[in-house]
This record gives sequence, C-alpha cells and structure tokens, in this order.
Amino acid sequence: MASAPATASAEPILEVSGLYKHYPLTQGILFKKQVGSVKAVDGVDFTLRRGETLGIVGESGCGKSTVAKMLVNLERPTAGSIKYKGEDITKLSGRALKAVRRNIQMVFQDPYTSLNPRMTVGDIIGEPYDIHPEVAPKGDRRRRVRELLDVVGLNPEYINRYPHQFSGGQRQRIGIARGLALRPEVIVADEPVSALDVSVQAQVINLMDRLQNEFDLSYVFIAHDLSIVRHISDRVGVMYLGRIVEIGKDAEIYDHPTHPYTQALLSAVPVPDPEAREHRERIILAGDVPSPTNIPSGCRFRTRCWKAQERCAQEVPALVVPPHLRGRGGPEAHDSACHFAEAGSVMRSAPGQVVPTEAES
Ligand SMILES: Nc1ncnc2c1ncn2[C@@H]1O[C@H](COP(=O)(O)OP(=O)(O)OP(=O)(O)O)[C@@H](O)[C@H]1O
Ligand code: SF4
Ligand SMILES: [Mg+2]
Repeated sequence: MASAPATASAEPILEVSGLYKHYPLTQGILFKKQVGSVKAVDGVDFTLRRGETLGIVGESGCGKSTVAKMLVNLERPTAGSIKYKGEDITKLSGRALKAVRRNIQMVFQDPYTSLNPRMTVGDIIGEPYDIHPEVAPKGDRRRRVRELLDVVGLNPEYINRYPHQFSGGQRQRIGIARGLALRPEVIVADEPVSALDVSVQAQVINLMDRLQNEFDLSYVFIAHDLSIVRHISDRVGVMYLGRIVEIGKDAEIYDHPTHPYTQALLSAVPVPDPEAREHRERIILAGDVPSPTNIPSGCRFRTRCWKAQERCAQEVPALVVPPHLRGRGGPEAHDSACHFAEAGSVMRSAPGQVVPTEAES
C-alpha cells in the first residue's frame, strides 16, 4: 500500500529482467512464412519488493497484459528472466513450476466474462483447489470458500449462487477471492477495476488495500489510468510500446515526472480543484501510437515527442537516472528513458483525492 515506506528496503520477491514477447507475424495458408513480429513486450525490467504495490500504466496495446500473462506463466517469454525469490521461473517446468504458480496469482480485468456463468460461486472460488488439493482437503473446501467470501465482503450464504446474480463490483470481489484461495504471495491484477463504475472502483481498490495488509501480499497492479494506480501504488512504471519508459516512487512520477510521455499522460488526468485546473497545461500528443510490428529507431516515443532531436532517432535511451539529474538528487533523480529528461510543469491532483475510504464508500 502507498503509505508503507518499509517496502523500499524489503527483499525483492519478483525480479524481471530483459523481458521480451514477440509474436511471429506469418503469411500464407499452406506454407506459413514469417514476415515480421509483433513486439508486444520489448525489453522490460523491474523489481517488485515484498509487501509493495507496483503500478504499471500505459495506453491500450502497450503490452501490459502480455507482461501480466508472463508473470503468471500463461505466456512464455521470447527472452528474459522472471525471478521469484531469486529463482528464474521461466526455466521451470513440471512440479517445480506448479509450486511456484501457486504463489503468483492473477485477478482479471472483466468480472463479466472472466467467471464461468455455469459454475456456482463456491465452485469458481474453490476450483484452484482441484489443481492444488494439498492446500485444502476436499472435506474442508466449502468452509474455506465461505471464509474467503467473508474476507472479500460477500455474504457466505451466497456460495450456491451464479455469477449473473451479482453486480460488477461483487463479481470482481469473487475474482479476488478466487485469486486468494491458494494463499499466494504475489497478485498480478490486470486492470481489475477498469470495467467498473467509478464509485465501485474505489470500493474494490480499498478492499485490495486492506487485503494486502491482512495477507502480506505484493501486487503488480495494471491500469491504463494514472489516477487509479496512484491511490494504491508505492511505485509506478509507465509503459510505452512494449517498454517501461519511466519508473519511480509514486510522488516522483506524479509530482516530478521527467519523461515527456508521462508528462503528457499526467496532463490529461482530471483535476477536481478548479484553481489547479486553470493553472495546468494540457499536452496533446501528435499522431497515433506506432504499430508494435514497426517500432521507431532510437527512442520509441520520438514520433510523438515535441522535444525530439536528431540524437533521439539514433540512440536508444536507457532506463536509468539521467546523468544530468543524478548529481542534483531530489525527486527528479529517478529512472527515465529520455536523453533530455527534465522536470515538467504539469500540475496534478493530490494523492487519494478521488478515492474515498472503504468505510465511506
Ligand atoms: N497472441 C497474440 N498474437 C499476436 N499479437 C498479440 C497477441 N497478444 C497480444 N498481441 C499484441 O500485442 C500488443 C500488446 O497487447 P496487450 O494485450 O499486452 O496490451 P495491453 O497494454 O494490455 O492493452 P489493453 O490496455 O488494451 O488491455 C498489442 O498490439 C496486441 O495486439
Ligand atoms: S529521448 Fe528524445 S524523443 Fe525520446 S522522450 Fe526524450 S526527448 Fe523525446
Ligand atoms: Mg490489457
């Protein structure tokens, strides 16, 4: 949760390094020929510490879900490593992989389609026990499922109901209960509130916040909206076209962004205070996001960047603290993949401003 500075010194639970997922693009029906590749994830690095929430944000198609799927082993990377407590899980198979998968669970975006409509809530939440019977013996499963329903704020008496008998927010609570069934250490939540109304989003985020403390969870929390992740994240990584372009503590990213893309995204976040709104500069990006089959040379953001120079087409900017900001220290000195990174003039809303507490909602 955002207010836990102790996580900065906690040990890494996930270490992602040089992660790539390229899907081959083929032509021909009988004799398939590879004519290119979709570079869905194109060199992602980050660390998740125990007890921490890392928010990952970026526009549609930038590769967020593909990263999520690789973290929970639904997709195998083209290259790179994902270390869970120091062990590269991309190299595991069989029993060892199954054991690790238990500890890294996913919560999906759309509570309307991710729950099987023909199964009762009890069967949906208890299904992971079929794969891991060692966690809950058959005779104890219903008790555990009732407990989980209670933990996520649903009436345990609903155990025999079907998904269509619940609201969107309640369904996402069911998805979270299922994610918790195996008592994982890491939850990868892929846009868990994007399909919900704003008022319900706040309730689900606050529930996740509470569960994090209760179950000692570490979260990778994916969203396309920067205002959603701020309330829950300790750190935030901003993705563009398959890569993280800026990453840092939430205050560094929200109040002192140095990458032009982050500055543009933040300039579009709604500000509730009219006075602050008046003083802020809205950055409208030119053009569309380039295709992931044809990523620009040098800096991948250069085709839309108002600061682009010759060097930007030649040299790929590394995701590091920019040398000219390093010496100064302070909140601007965080990782930013831009040759000309500098503090922006964009004004933003205060943390948590749009998210009421669980008791209020
Ligand atoms: N199985 C696949 N085969 C080919 N291309 C794919 C496949 N899965 C994803 N892609 C492409 O990879 C890119 C990244 O997709 P991804 O779903 O990870 O994006 P995202 O950031 O989660 O987007 P959204 O916000 O819309 O959910 C997109 O261009 C997508 O079309
Ligand atoms: S490296 Fe150049 S093109 Fe890329 S974000 Fe920085 S200024 Fe813009
Ligand atoms: Mg997605």
